[in-house]
Amino acid sequence: MEDKLLEIYSKAELDNLVEQCSSGGGYEHWLKARHFVTKAIHKDGSFLDIGCSNGFLLKCLQHWTPYTLEPYGIEHREEAVCLAKELFSDMPEHIELLDGNRLIGLKETNLPDAYDYVFRNHWKRETTENEMKEVLSDLFNHTKEDGRVIVGLYWPNSRKQGTSDFDRVRNEFLGFADKIKSAAAKVDGEAFSDIGDHWIMWMDKNS
Ligand SMILES: C[S@@+](CC[C@H](N)C(=O)[O-])C[C@H]1O[C@@H](n2cnc3c(N)ncnc32)[C@H](O)[C@@H]1O
Repeated sequence: MEDKLLEIYSKAELDNLVEQCSSGGGYEHWLKARHFVTKAIHKDGSFLDIGCSNGFLLKCLQHWTPYTLEPYGIEHREEAVCLAKELFSDMPEHIELLDGNRLIGLKETNLPDAYDYVFRNHWKRETTENEMKEVLSDLFNHTKEDGRVIVGLYWPNSRKQGTSDFDRVRNEFLGFADKIKSAAAKVDGEAFSDIGDHWIMWMDKNS
């Protein structure tokens, strides 16, 4: 795979950007854990990452896909927002400090109200199916008519394959993903990462 990011950043810079995202293993591991998100991207458009951390996923998607993406991010940690604004120093106004559970707050920012892609991957484990339905409905409210909602789930998994603990955690992960699917009532596509328990699914608003 040709990776245009390697032409822009040194390996040390890439590893540092990964670390800022609290993701271990450096850029090589990050590629295996995040590149699969590109499977949901099928056209040019604006892309809102809800819980964007330092903005590195947005930066990666811009360079990993053949499509032109206009990046936007919201994040509730001030320190991460500062890093993301730094990463997008040519468009710091595309990043806002905002609670991703309160998308109504978008109106109080200068960010657009609707996007071609709306992506969210943070979930509290105790989230009920009804609460998931509310979250998904909120995501659709901020998606353009021909746009796509992408939801993801990153499940911590540092256990050894083949152990009962590994199987238990894997089953919890798959069970949580099934609950999101059930709340969504329809799935237009899904993908798993090459490494770790990471999953996304997408739903087109007009399908
Ligand atoms: C695992 S990082 C994901 C970063 C990036 N979106 C990605 O997929 O690699 C999750 C981020 O979501 C943020 N987050 C969690 N809950 C949030 C909320 N309610 N509102 C905004 N950001 C939130 C966290 O602070 C963290 O930076």
